[in-house]
Amino acid sequence: MSATNQLRADHDQVRRLEKIVSKCAAELYKGTTIPFSDLTKITIVISEFVDTIHHSREEDSYFPCVASYDSLKEEIRKFMIEHEFGRNIARKISDHLKRWKNGEDAQEPVSRYLRAYAIFLNDHLNKEDKFFDTAEAEVLSKEEEIEMYEQYRSIFAIVKKVEELIADIDYLENQPWAKN
Ligand SMILES: [Fe+2]
Ligand SMILES: [Fe+2]
Repeated sequence: MSATNQLRADHDQVRRLEKIVSKCAAELYKGTTIPFSDLTKITIVISEFVDTIHHSREEDSYFPCVASYDSLKEEIRKFMIEHEFGRNIARKISDHLKRWKNGEDAQEPVSRYLRAYAIFLNDHLNKEDKFFDTAEAEVLSKEEEIEMYEQYRSIFAIVKKVEELIADIDYLENQPWAKN
């Protein structure tokens, strides 16, 4: 396994999340009742898997390693801005969900920001997948790929957490509102 392949594997899970988020937004717009516990689970997977784990793998090791070759810097700069954009949308989802749980009528903004988040993910993943192909083929050495991969796998608590979050994605995919 290599760092690039680990990030591609993360993206496979994020793509599943993107489909759940998109479906959730569409169902809320139709007026389908979705339990708050499911909506909360979505915000947790976004915050812990996408932001804390996956974006850290990119921002703290993969991007700096690629940039150390003085290459693809403009792409990396844009990705960092997009990560921040994604965090802002995720914060809006959580804030409006909190208001909704407190009895305010916030179903519409929750749906709207969920839809925006799904669009962000799709666009961002498409661009990064191309970037990974280039970084793997033209920039990173085999040793760096292995070293970063081992670093990703070295923290047991994170590997364990990823398993739990993937189980949350499995759970969400199997909820009635997500399946029809
Ligand atoms: Fe990213
Ligand atoms: Fe990514």
